Amino acid sequence: MTSLFNPLTFGATSAPNRIFMAPLTRCRADAAHTPTALMAEHYAQRASAGLIIAEATMVMAGNSAFWMEPGIYNDAQVAGWKLTTDAVHAAGGRIFLQIWHGGRACHPLLNDGVQPVAPSPLAITGDEVHTPQGKQPYVMPRALRDDELPGIVAGFKKAAENAQAAGFDGVEVHGANGYLLDEFLRDGANQRSGAYGGPVENRARLMLEVLAAVSSVWGSDRVGLRLSPLNSYNSMIDSDPVGLATWLAKRLNDFGLAYLHVMRGDFFQQQQGDVLTPIRAHYKGVLVGNMGYTADEAAKAIADGKLDAVAFGTGFLANPDLPARFKAGAPLNAPNPDTFYSPGAVGYTDYPALGV
Ligand SMILES: Cc1cc2nc3c(=O)[nH]c(=O)nc-3n(C[C@H](O)[C@H](O)[C@H](O)COP(=O)(O)O)c2cc1C
Repeated sequence: MTSLFNPLTFGATSAPNRIFMAPLTRCRADAAHTPTALMAEHYAQRASAGLIIAEATMVMAGNSAFWMEPGIYNDAQVAGWKLTTDAVHAAGGRIFLQIWHGGRACHPLLNDGVQPVAPSPLAITGDEVHTPQGKQPYVMPRALRDDELPGIVAGFKKAAENAQAAGFDGVEVHGANGYLLDEFLRDGANQRSGAYGGPVENRARLMLEVLAAVSSVWGSDRVGLRLSPLNSYNSMIDSDPVGLATWLAKRLNDFGLAYLHVMRGDFFQQQQGDVLTPIRAHYKGVLVGNMGYTADEAAKAIADGKLDAVAFGTGFLANPDLPARFKAGAPLNAPNPDTFYSPGAVGYTDYPALGV
Protein backbone atom coordinates (compact mmCIF):
# COMPACT_ATOMS: atom_id res chain seq x y z
CA MET A 1 0.00 0.00 0.00
CA THR A 2 1.44 3.38 -0.98
CA SER A 3 1.99 5.71 1.95
CA LEU A 4 2.96 9.32 2.53
CA PHE A 5 6.53 8.09 2.95
CA ASN A 6 6.88 6.25 -0.35
CA PRO A 7 9.08 8.01 -2.91
CA LEU A 8 7.38 9.71 -5.85
CA THR A 9 8.66 10.61 -9.29
CA PHE A 10 6.81 13.52 -10.88
CA GLY A 11 8.10 14.36 -14.35
CA ALA A 12 11.87 14.80 -14.13
CA THR A 13 11.99 15.06 -10.33
CA SER A 14 12.08 12.33 -7.69
CA ALA A 15 11.04 13.00 -4.10
CA PRO A 16 11.63 10.85 -1.02
CA ASN A 17 8.07 11.39 0.25
CA ARG A 18 4.64 12.61 -0.86
CA ILE A 19 4.32 15.43 1.66
CA PHE A 20 4.59 18.62 -0.40
CA MET A 21 4.79 22.17 0.93
CA ALA A 22 2.00 24.29 -0.59
CA PRO A 23 2.90 27.79 -1.85
CA LEU A 24 2.62 30.36 0.94
CA THR A 25 2.89 34.11 0.40
CA ARG A 26 4.69 35.51 3.44
CA CYS A 27 5.70 39.02 2.35
CA ARG A 28 9.30 38.75 3.58
CA ALA A 29 10.94 40.10 0.39
CA ASP A 30 12.12 43.72 0.34
CA ALA A 31 10.26 46.75 -1.04
CA ALA A 32 11.81 46.11 -4.49
CA HIS A 33 10.38 42.55 -4.43
CA THR A 34 13.86 41.06 -3.99
CA PRO A 35 14.01 37.78 -2.02
CA THR A 36 16.01 37.95 1.20
CA ALA A 37 18.43 35.75 3.17
CA LEU A 38 15.67 35.28 5.75
CA MET A 39 13.56 33.60 3.07
CA ALA A 40 16.44 31.22 2.31
CA GLU A 41 16.58 30.27 5.99
CA HIS A 42 12.80 29.71 6.09
CA TYR A 43 12.75 27.46 3.05
CA ALA A 44 15.88 25.51 4.02
CA GLN A 45 14.22 24.69 7.35
CA ARG A 46 11.47 22.97 5.32
CA ALA A 47 13.76 20.99 2.97
CA SER A 48 12.42 17.62 4.19
CA ALA A 49 9.24 18.25 2.15
CA GLY A 50 8.93 15.96 -0.87
CA LEU A 51 8.72 19.20 -2.82
CA ILE A 52 8.71 22.82 -1.68
CA ILE A 53 6.53 24.98 -3.89
CA ALA A 54 7.83 28.47 -3.18
CA GLU A 55 5.33 31.29 -2.83
CA ALA A 56 3.51 33.17 -5.59
CA THR A 57 6.14 35.30 -7.34
CA MET A 58 5.54 38.21 -9.71
CA VAL A 59 6.41 37.46 -13.32
CA MET A 60 6.41 41.12 -14.32
CA ALA A 61 6.93 44.50 -12.72
CA GLY A 62 3.81 46.49 -11.92
CA ASN A 63 1.64 43.56 -10.86
CA SER A 64 2.00 43.54 -7.10
CA ALA A 65 -0.97 42.18 -5.15
CA PHE A 66 0.78 41.80 -1.77
CA TRP A 67 3.09 44.31 -0.22
CA MET A 68 6.66 42.89 -0.07
CA GLU A 69 5.98 39.77 -2.12
CA PRO A 70 8.89 38.53 -4.24
CA GLY A 71 9.39 38.88 -8.00
CA ILE A 72 11.48 37.06 -10.60
CA TYR A 73 11.69 39.67 -13.35
CA ASN A 74 15.13 41.24 -12.73
CA ASP A 75 18.70 40.18 -11.99
CA ALA A 76 18.64 41.20 -8.33
CA GLN A 77 15.61 38.98 -7.77
CA VAL A 78 17.31 36.06 -9.52
CA ALA A 79 20.32 36.53 -7.24
CA GLY A 80 18.02 36.79 -4.21
CA TRP A 81 16.22 33.56 -5.09
CA LYS A 82 19.60 31.83 -5.64
CA LEU A 83 20.17 32.16 -1.89
CA THR A 84 17.02 30.11 -1.33
CA THR A 85 17.62 27.44 -3.98
CA ASP A 86 21.23 26.96 -2.83
CA ALA A 87 20.16 26.66 0.81
CA VAL A 88 17.35 24.19 0.03
CA HIS A 89 19.58 22.06 -2.17
CA ALA A 90 22.36 22.08 0.43
CA ALA A 91 19.78 20.80 2.92
CA GLY A 92 18.82 17.97 0.53
CA GLY A 93 15.53 19.44 -0.74
CA ARG A 94 13.76 20.13 -4.00
CA ILE A 95 12.06 23.44 -4.83
CA PHE A 96 9.73 24.70 -7.58
CA LEU A 97 8.75 28.38 -7.89
CA GLN A 98 5.10 29.39 -8.20
CA ILE A 99 4.90 32.07 -10.91
CA TRP A 100 1.91 34.39 -11.10
CA HIS A 101 0.24 37.50 -12.35
CA GLY A 102 -2.06 39.02 -9.72
CA GLY A 103 -4.63 40.39 -12.20
CA ARG A 104 -7.43 42.35 -10.57
CA ALA A 105 -6.07 41.62 -7.07
CA CYS A 106 -3.26 44.11 -7.73
CA HIS A 107 -3.66 47.64 -6.33
CA PRO A 108 -2.57 51.09 -7.59
CA LEU A 109 -0.97 51.86 -4.21
CA LEU A 110 1.36 48.90 -4.73
CA ASN A 111 2.04 49.72 -8.38
CA ASP A 112 2.86 53.42 -8.79
CA GLY A 113 -0.79 54.34 -9.28
CA VAL A 114 -1.34 51.94 -12.18
CA GLN A 115 -4.82 50.42 -12.48
CA PRO A 116 -4.85 46.60 -12.34
CA VAL A 117 -5.79 44.51 -15.37
CA ALA A 118 -8.23 41.63 -15.73
CA PRO A 119 -10.28 39.82 -18.39
CA SER A 120 -13.30 42.04 -17.65
CA PRO A 121 -14.03 45.22 -15.67
CA LEU A 122 -15.31 43.44 -12.54
CA ALA A 123 -13.82 44.29 -9.13
CA ILE A 124 -13.17 42.03 -6.12
CA THR A 125 -15.71 42.88 -3.41
CA GLY A 126 -16.05 42.06 0.28
CA ASP A 127 -12.32 42.00 1.04
CA GLU A 128 -9.41 44.41 1.29
CA VAL A 129 -5.80 44.45 0.15
CA HIS A 130 -2.87 45.21 2.46
CA THR A 131 -0.93 48.28 1.22
CA PRO A 132 1.70 50.62 2.71
CA GLN A 133 -1.28 52.86 3.59
CA GLY A 134 -3.15 50.15 5.44
CA LYS A 135 -6.02 47.96 4.27
CA GLN A 136 -7.73 49.29 1.15
CA PRO A 137 -10.68 48.12 -0.95
CA TYR A 138 -9.88 46.51 -4.29
CA VAL A 139 -10.32 48.76 -7.33
CA MET A 140 -12.05 48.33 -10.66
CA PRO A 141 -9.65 46.66 -13.12
CA ARG A 142 -9.15 47.57 -16.75
CA ALA A 143 -10.04 44.86 -19.27
CA LEU A 144 -6.99 43.64 -21.16
CA ARG A 145 -7.19 43.85 -24.95
CA ASP A 146 -6.56 40.62 -26.86
CA ASP A 147 -3.46 42.21 -28.40
CA GLU A 148 -1.95 42.67 -24.91
CA LEU A 149 -2.14 38.97 -24.06
CA PRO A 150 1.02 37.88 -25.93
CA GLY A 151 2.86 40.27 -23.59
CA ILE A 152 1.47 38.39 -20.58
CA VAL A 153 2.56 35.05 -22.04
CA ALA A 154 6.00 36.51 -22.74
CA GLY A 155 6.19 37.70 -19.13
CA PHE A 156 5.58 34.17 -17.84
CA LYS A 157 8.16 32.81 -20.28
CA LYS A 158 10.79 35.30 -19.13
CA ALA A 159 9.99 34.47 -15.50
CA ALA A 160 10.45 30.78 -16.31
CA GLU A 161 13.89 31.54 -17.79
CA ASN A 162 14.79 33.57 -14.72
CA ALA A 163 13.62 30.77 -12.42
CA GLN A 164 16.00 28.47 -14.24
CA ALA A 165 18.85 30.94 -13.77
CA ALA A 166 17.95 31.14 -10.07
CA GLY A 167 18.49 27.40 -9.66
CA PHE A 168 14.93 26.13 -9.13
CA ASP A 169 14.05 22.52 -9.99
CA GLY A 170 10.93 23.60 -11.87
CA VAL A 171 8.02 26.02 -11.82
CA GLU A 172 4.36 25.87 -10.86
CA VAL A 173 2.05 28.06 -12.93
CA HIS A 174 -0.48 29.74 -10.62
CA GLY A 175 -3.87 29.08 -12.17
CA ALA A 176 -5.76 29.31 -8.86
CA ASN A 177 -7.36 31.61 -6.29
CA GLY A 178 -8.70 34.39 -8.47
CA TYR A 179 -5.51 35.76 -9.95
CA LEU A 180 -5.11 36.59 -13.63
CA LEU A 181 -5.10 33.11 -15.22
CA ASP A 182 -7.94 31.92 -12.98
CA GLU A 183 -9.89 35.10 -13.75
CA PHE A 184 -9.79 34.18 -17.43
CA LEU A 185 -10.75 30.57 -16.63
CA ARG A 186 -13.87 31.08 -14.56
CA ASP A 187 -16.97 32.61 -16.12
CA GLY A 188 -17.85 34.72 -13.06
CA ALA A 189 -14.80 36.90 -13.76
CA ASN A 190 -14.56 36.53 -17.54
CA GLN A 191 -17.32 38.18 -19.55
CA ARG A 192 -15.26 38.66 -22.70
CA SER A 193 -16.26 37.89 -26.23
CA GLY A 194 -13.75 36.76 -28.82
CA ALA A 195 -10.93 34.24 -28.63
CA TYR A 196 -10.43 34.48 -24.83
CA GLY A 197 -14.04 34.57 -23.63
CA GLY A 198 -17.20 32.50 -23.80
CA PRO A 199 -16.79 28.70 -23.99
CA VAL A 200 -14.30 26.97 -21.72
CA GLU A 201 -11.80 26.33 -24.52
CA ASN A 202 -11.58 30.10 -24.99
CA ARG A 203 -11.43 30.92 -21.27
CA ALA A 204 -8.61 28.38 -20.81
CA ARG A 205 -6.67 29.67 -23.82
CA LEU A 206 -4.41 32.13 -21.96
CA MET A 207 -3.49 29.56 -19.30
CA LEU A 208 -2.72 26.92 -21.92
CA GLU A 209 -0.62 29.41 -23.90
CA VAL A 210 1.31 30.18 -20.71
CA LEU A 211 1.83 26.46 -20.03
CA ALA A 212 3.16 25.94 -23.56
CA ALA A 213 5.52 28.93 -23.27
CA VAL A 214 6.83 27.93 -19.85
CA SER A 215 7.22 24.30 -20.99
CA SER A 216 9.28 25.49 -23.97
CA VAL A 217 11.79 26.82 -21.41
CA TRP A 218 11.82 24.01 -18.85
CA GLY A 219 10.43 20.97 -20.63
CA SER A 220 6.89 20.17 -19.52
CA ASP A 221 8.20 17.53 -17.08
CA ARG A 222 9.45 20.35 -14.84
CA VAL A 223 6.24 22.38 -14.99
CA GLY A 224 3.31 22.02 -12.59
CA LEU A 225 -0.07 23.76 -12.59
CA ARG A 226 -2.25 24.80 -9.65
CA LEU A 227 -6.04 25.06 -9.97
CA SER A 228 -8.85 25.88 -7.52
CA PRO A 229 -12.09 25.33 -9.45
CA LEU A 230 -14.30 25.74 -6.35
CA ASN A 231 -12.56 28.44 -4.34
CA SER A 232 -14.63 31.63 -4.02
CA TYR A 233 -11.70 33.60 -2.55
CA ASN A 234 -11.21 36.91 -4.44
CA SER A 235 -14.90 37.01 -5.48
CA MET A 236 -14.49 34.03 -7.78
CA ILE A 237 -17.38 31.94 -8.98
CA ASP A 238 -18.07 29.62 -11.90
CA SER A 239 -21.40 28.41 -13.22
CA ASP A 240 -20.06 24.84 -13.61
CA PRO A 241 -16.91 24.16 -11.54
CA VAL A 242 -17.08 20.39 -11.95
CA GLY A 243 -17.54 20.68 -15.71
CA LEU A 244 -14.61 23.11 -15.85
CA ALA A 245 -12.41 20.77 -13.80
CA THR A 246 -13.36 17.78 -15.97
CA TRP A 247 -12.66 19.65 -19.21
CA LEU A 248 -9.27 20.79 -17.92
CA ALA A 249 -8.34 17.31 -16.66
CA LYS A 250 -8.85 15.91 -20.16
CA ARG A 251 -7.17 18.78 -21.98
CA LEU A 252 -4.13 18.89 -19.70
CA ASN A 253 -3.20 15.33 -20.66
CA ASP A 254 -1.77 16.83 -23.85
CA PHE A 255 0.81 18.81 -21.85
CA GLY A 256 2.78 16.06 -20.06
CA LEU A 257 3.18 18.18 -16.94
CA ALA A 258 5.23 17.22 -13.88
CA TYR A 259 2.01 17.39 -11.85
CA LEU A 260 -1.43 18.91 -11.50
CA HIS A 261 -2.06 20.51 -8.10
CA VAL A 262 -5.70 20.92 -7.11
CA MET A 263 -7.23 22.78 -4.18
CA ARG A 264 -10.25 20.63 -3.51
CA GLY A 265 -12.65 23.11 -1.91
CA ASP A 266 -13.68 26.65 -1.11
CA PHE A 267 -12.13 28.70 1.71
CA PHE A 268 -15.61 30.16 2.34
CA GLN A 269 -17.79 27.10 1.59
CA GLN A 270 -19.92 29.02 -0.90
CA GLN A 271 -19.29 26.59 -3.73
CA GLN A 272 -19.65 22.89 -2.97
CA GLY A 273 -18.74 19.88 -5.05
CA ASP A 274 -16.20 17.16 -5.69
CA VAL A 275 -13.64 18.15 -8.29
CA LEU A 276 -10.96 15.62 -7.34
CA THR A 277 -12.92 12.52 -8.39
CA PRO A 278 -13.58 13.65 -11.99
CA ILE A 279 -10.04 15.02 -12.28
CA ARG A 280 -8.59 11.68 -11.14
CA ALA A 281 -10.87 9.85 -13.56
CA HIS A 282 -9.74 11.86 -16.57
CA TYR A 283 -6.24 13.15 -15.79
CA LYS A 284 -3.46 10.64 -16.50
CA GLY A 285 -0.56 12.40 -14.76
CA VAL A 286 0.59 12.94 -11.18
CA LEU A 287 -2.16 14.50 -9.06
CA VAL A 288 -1.43 16.55 -5.93
CA GLY A 289 -4.32 17.42 -3.61
CA ASN A 290 -4.52 20.26 -1.10
CA MET A 291 -6.78 22.03 1.37
CA GLY A 292 -7.56 20.99 4.89
CA TYR A 293 -5.87 17.59 4.89
CA THR A 294 -4.73 15.91 8.08
CA ALA A 295 -1.91 13.38 7.90
CA ASP A 296 -4.44 10.54 8.26
CA GLU A 297 -6.74 11.77 5.53
CA ALA A 298 -3.80 12.41 3.22
CA ALA A 299 -2.39 8.93 3.89
CA LYS A 300 -5.76 7.36 3.13
CA ALA A 301 -6.22 9.33 -0.11
CA ILE A 302 -2.79 8.14 -1.26
CA ALA A 303 -3.33 4.55 -0.11
CA ASP A 304 -6.69 4.50 -1.93
CA GLY A 305 -5.04 5.77 -5.13
CA LYS A 306 -7.09 8.97 -5.16
CA LEU A 307 -4.01 11.21 -5.03
CA ASP A 308 -0.28 10.80 -5.61
CA ALA A 309 0.82 13.45 -3.10
CA VAL A 310 -0.73 16.00 -0.75
CA ALA A 311 0.42 19.60 -0.29
CA PHE A 312 0.19 21.12 3.19
CA GLY A 313 0.00 24.89 3.63
CA THR A 314 -0.52 25.96 7.21
CA GLY A 315 0.95 22.64 8.41
CA PHE A 316 4.33 23.50 6.88
CA LEU A 317 4.00 27.16 7.78
CA ALA A 318 4.09 26.29 11.49
CA ASN A 319 6.08 23.02 11.36
CA PRO A 320 9.40 23.15 9.53
CA ASP A 321 9.81 19.38 10.14
CA LEU A 322 6.28 18.34 9.15
CA PRO A 323 7.25 14.93 7.62
CA ALA A 324 9.17 13.96 10.79
CA ARG A 325 6.20 14.95 12.93
CA PHE A 326 3.81 12.93 10.75
CA LYS A 327 6.13 9.92 10.97
CA ALA A 328 6.41 10.19 14.75
CA GLY A 329 2.71 10.97 15.24
CA ALA A 330 3.97 14.03 17.13
CA PRO A 331 1.80 17.06 17.93
CA LEU A 332 1.88 20.01 15.54
CA ASN A 333 2.71 23.65 16.28
CA ALA A 334 -0.33 25.87 15.65
CA PRO A 335 0.03 28.58 12.98
CA ASN A 336 -0.31 32.19 14.13
CA PRO A 337 -2.29 34.24 11.54
CA ASP A 338 -1.07 37.53 13.08
CA THR A 339 2.40 36.89 11.64
CA PHE A 340 1.41 35.39 8.26
CA TYR A 341 2.26 38.60 6.38
CA SER A 342 4.23 40.61 8.95
CA PRO A 343 7.89 41.50 8.37
CA GLY A 344 10.84 39.75 10.02
CA ALA A 345 11.70 36.43 11.61
CA VAL A 346 8.91 36.29 14.18
CA GLY A 347 6.33 33.76 13.06
CA TYR A 348 8.52 32.90 10.07
CA THR A 349 11.78 31.18 11.00
CA ASP A 350 11.12 30.68 14.73
CA TYR A 351 8.58 27.83 14.69
CA PRO A 352 10.45 25.06 16.52
CA ALA A 353 11.33 21.66 15.08
CA LEU A 354 10.87 18.54 17.24
CA GLY A 355 13.37 18.30 20.03
CA VAL A 356 14.58 21.88 19.60
C1 LIG B 1 -0.48 32.73 4.61
C2 LIG B 1 -0.95 32.04 3.37
C3 LIG B 1 -0.38 32.35 2.15
C4 LIG B 1 -0.78 31.69 0.99
N1 LIG B 1 -0.18 31.97 -0.20
C5 LIG B 1 -0.48 31.26 -1.32
C6 LIG B 1 0.25 31.46 -2.53
O1 LIG B 1 1.20 32.25 -2.61
N2 LIG B 1 -0.12 30.74 -3.61
C7 LIG B 1 -1.16 29.84 -3.57
O2 LIG B 1 -1.46 29.21 -4.59
N3 LIG B 1 -1.83 29.61 -2.42
C8 LIG B 1 -1.50 30.28 -1.30
N4 LIG B 1 -2.13 30.00 -0.12
C9 LIG B 1 -3.03 28.84 -0.04
C10 LIG B 1 -2.23 27.62 0.46
O3 LIG B 1 -1.27 27.21 -0.49
C11 LIG B 1 -3.15 26.43 0.74
O4 LIG B 1 -3.89 26.16 -0.41
C12 LIG B 1 -4.09 26.69 1.90
O5 LIG B 1 -3.36 27.08 3.07
C13 LIG B 1 -4.91 25.43 2.22
O6 LIG B 1 -4.06 24.34 2.56
P1 LIG B 1 -3.91 23.84 4.07
O7 LIG B 1 -5.29 23.49 4.55
O8 LIG B 1 -2.98 22.68 4.02
O9 LIG B 1 -3.34 25.02 4.85
C14 LIG B 1 -1.79 30.69 1.05
C15 LIG B 1 -2.37 30.39 2.28
C16 LIG B 1 -1.96 31.02 3.44
C17 LIG B 1 -2.56 30.64 4.76
